[in-house]
Amino acid sequence: KAQKKDYVVKDISLAPFGRREMELAEHEMPGLMALREKYGAEKPLKGAQIAGSLHMTIQTAMLIETLQILGARVRWASCNIYSTQDHAAAAIAKAGTPVFAVKGESLEEYWEYTDRILDWGNGKGPNMILDDGGDATMFVQVGVKAEKDPSILDRKPGSPEEAVFYAQLKKALKKDPTRFSRMAAGIRGVTEETTTGVHRLYQLAEKGELLFPAINVNDSVTKSKFDNVYGCRHSLVDAIMRATDVMLSGKVAVVAGYGDVGKGSAQSLQGQNARVIVTEIDPICALQATMAGFEVMPMDEACRLGDVFVTTTGCCDVITERHMKQMKDQAIVCNIGHFDSEIQVEKIRKYKWTNIKPQVDKVTFPKGNSILLLAEGRLVNLGCATGHPSFVMSNSFTNQVLAQMEIWQKHEAEDRYSVGVYVLPKHLDEEVAALHLGRLGARLDSLTQKQARYLGIPKDGPFKPEHYRY
Ligand code: NAI
Repeated sequence: KAQKKDYVVKDISLAPFGRREMELAEHEMPGLMALREKYGAEKPLKGAQIAGSLHMTIQTAMLIETLQILGARVRWASCNIYSTQDHAAAAIAKAGTPVFAVKGESLEEYWEYTDRILDWGNGKGPNMILDDGGDATMFVQVGVKAEKDPSILDRKPGSPEEAVFYAQLKKALKKDPTRFSRMAAGIRGVTEETTTGVHRLYQLAEKGELLFPAINVNDSVTKSKFDNVYGCRHSLVDAIMRATDVMLSGKVAVVAGYGDVGKGSAQSLQGQNARVIVTEIDPICALQATMAGFEVMPMDEACRLGDVFVTTTGCCDVITERHMKQMKDQAIVCNIGHFDSEIQVEKIRKYKWTNIKPQVDKVTFPKGNSILLLAEGRLVNLGCATGHPSFVMSNSFTNQVLAQMEIWQKHEAEDRYSVGVYVLPKHLDEEVAALHLGRLGARLDSLTQKQARYLGIPKDGPFKPEHYRY
């Protein structure tokens, strides 16, 4: 009897291409490969059933297979409708991994796929979540709330996206009205990849609503100070150039936000000899930007000066309809923050849209001027290019695997994580960095006993106190 296939990908025949790129990635992902080597036999994740919601790229395929080699079973979806690399999804589907991800999937499909990674058959759910941006976690959290009070799903949705989210939850609850509370009870914890998702977790914890322990992977130093900075530095201009072929040299680029992603983005554009303006709300970050040589001014002024705009804030309404109408003709507008809330895309739907090619639209305003909007305001580096390169993602994903192991293995122990949000211990953060030095030919000095005593720190680390900011 033919088995119903437990995956949704664009084209399974892309699998060999995906596999070839995964083989290339092995060379660039020393952290993940070291974990495979170290724990492959021991299988510390045996029994873990991980629901993963994270951009389905080649690098993520490497993460997925590392989790599997360590003993876990996974079900996977992308955490953005444009970020999937179809050959990566095909490669892991072909190898038997249930994956639900298609570049350009609809919002309805997006939430249906999120639902499917949480459905482990026979009414069972996952026992771990690996999240990027918090959508899988939110689906469970809001699901549990809605079990108790279904009327919350009848509230007026704040966006078209929210409407689709509510509809999928309703469908899920109709099928199995107690599914989410059973699922939440079985989930040992979540590990969260990005700033925005982490922000959501702390908000839930503050309100006392968080249902399980969470590890904030983003704030491992070897994640946010590398992926967010150097990853975006690599992939931002890559995306703008693939999408538009525009000459960046000499142009005025406006970067909204000068956090980790903003720093990488500003450097990325500066590296092309664009003249970079930064907008900020935080005086510390504004001072950093100024002393790095960037001009800082409000968006109300910058909107008239830029040829290229990039939002990196994790905030909402940073570039408004009013800003866009005042921009130079054919200004390029894009976002590299996690959600599409930073640019008021919904407000400009009413104008004339001309699709240039997938993920590139020209929006023309009544006065005749237009802007080029990339990836409909969704994260541009994954929508218009292939996201961060393997080497930097190896740092992030080594943290992810260690975080999954921490929660999974400690669950039965005395010192298990209680409900709350945690970062990985510093010695693991240092270990992740150490695993990546060799590939770059970097060699460390080591402290003598005398030096260690002098500094008052252990000879083999951790080398910095918790308050150190790098
Ligand atoms: P962050 O908190 O370090 O930086 C955000 C900065 O934006 C802060 O300095 C904040 O003061 C500023 N900001 C907030 N509201 C603003 C406003 N209205 N106008 C101007 N500035 C404003 O966060 P991080 O780590 O830089 O992440 C930013 C976003 O990028 C998050 O949504 C994160 O999840 C996402 N991200 C995306 C990646 C990608 O590959 N596309 C990679 C890593 C993170």
